Amino acid sequence: MSATFFPQDLIIKKRDGGALTKDEIEFFARGVCDGRFSDYQATALLMAIFWRGMSAQETAWLTDAMMRSGEVIDLSDIPGAKVDKHSTGGVGDKVSLILAPLAAACGLKVPMMSGRGLGHTGGTLDKLEAIPGFRVMLSVSEFRGILQKTGCAMIGQTPQVVPADRKLYALRDVTGTVECIPLICSSIMSKKLAEGLDSLVLDVKFGKGAFMKSKDKARVLAQAMVDVGRAGGKPVRALLTAMDQPLGHAAGHTTEVIESIECLKGRGPADLMEVTFALTGHMLMLGGAAKDEADAGRKMDAAIANGSALQKFREMCAAQGGDPRVVDDYRILPTAKNFLEVKAPAGARGFISEVNALKCGHAIMALGGGRTAVTDQIDHAVGIAGLIKIGEPVAPGTRLCMLHVNDDAQGARAEALIREAIKFIPTPPQLEPLVQDLIQ
Ligand code: URA
Repeated sequence: MSATFFPQDLIIKKRDGGALTKDEIEFFARGVCDGRFSDYQATALLMAIFWRGMSAQETAWLTDAMMRSGEVIDLSDIPGAKVDKHSTGGVGDKVSLILAPLAAACGLKVPMMSGRGLGHTGGTLDKLEAIPGFRVMLSVSEFRGILQKTGCAMIGQTPQVVPADRKLYALRDVTGTVECIPLICSSIMSKKLAEGLDSLVLDVKFGKGAFMKSKDKARVLAQAMVDVGRAGGKPVRALLTAMDQPLGHAAGHTTEVIESIECLKGRGPADLMEVTFALTGHMLMLGGAAKDEADAGRKMDAAIANGSALQKFREMCAAQGGDPRVVDDYRILPTAKNFLEVKAPAGARGFISEVNALKCGHAIMALGGGRTAVTDQIDHAVGIAGLIKIGEPVAPGTRLCMLHVNDDAQGARAEALIREAIKFIPTPPQLEPLVQDLIQ
């Protein structure tokens, strides 16, 4: 890159609706890391991008420049297809905890770098840390070693990976520039492409508990990410999945770890298994471990039935410092002091028509199980278990859920939110399909 650029020229160009060149975008991604772009200039450009958008080509260049702002992990010397999954986030979304060992048991390598929960959505790293001793902050060489030996490793992003996103995301978070498809796409995809994977499956969620409230917006985001993957030479498939009610019956940390292990033992709830099998199935097909959906289904059924997926979870847990006895003894997980049963009120008759995922997420936060700032401590023991699902019959006194509570006042606030979240109607509601579209 020989030309000299000035941040204000890029800001003006984008402000006036122009398209940035590859070199200009590269200057931006590097400049936010080395100080040539000040925070206020970066924020001005982000806001201009927010309003003016970016073409598919600009988004691909931005993703590539962000990815190359730090370390790009090379896993090419590890044999096997390296395939990962990323979800745009929801409530009760514990799919990664089941999918990674399941896909590994079916022959893939799953190098998974996940995030923490923020706001009403839970994070994979926080859930894993409910397991005593489980370490998610590993060095790249530890990550590689575990991946090679166990077939799956689940860690947090190392500081060396995509520093441009670290900077830009922090600025976006406080300047009203998060909800912008080219910026979300480049943020997510730069981190995924830096992981050293061969292919990727995306779970793009839409609905009340998702980042994208409408399916149309979710589709645009999914297509943008699939296109950026293709531009980077990596096959990417995206599923659009509904996130109106929490996935499964559990939300929180301990409660979600237990539900995930139950899934690996073949006792998972239907909705959670449906999404997990759909995503894992596409991973197996992309990685060449299954020839079609039926073949993938047979392999996944076998890995659950013969215990090999559960064994992979046990091995990964031990390799990452976690206590593998958790698989057989849930009492070693952090346990709440009290259990508060929430029952349907006297007027309840008919069927559950809504279990609002956003409100359930707020209930977890009210219990102390969420964050409003990345530095907040979370209580792993609290959460929701046995949550009723849309379509189930209800009468006065029917159990709606059990709250795992460490503080009575928090429990009362969470109960009020659960009562707001759940609605009844006299006749069975129309059930929407969970897995709706495939974008590739
Ligand atoms: N998750 C990310 O990693 N980046 C975004 O911009 C939004 C969600």
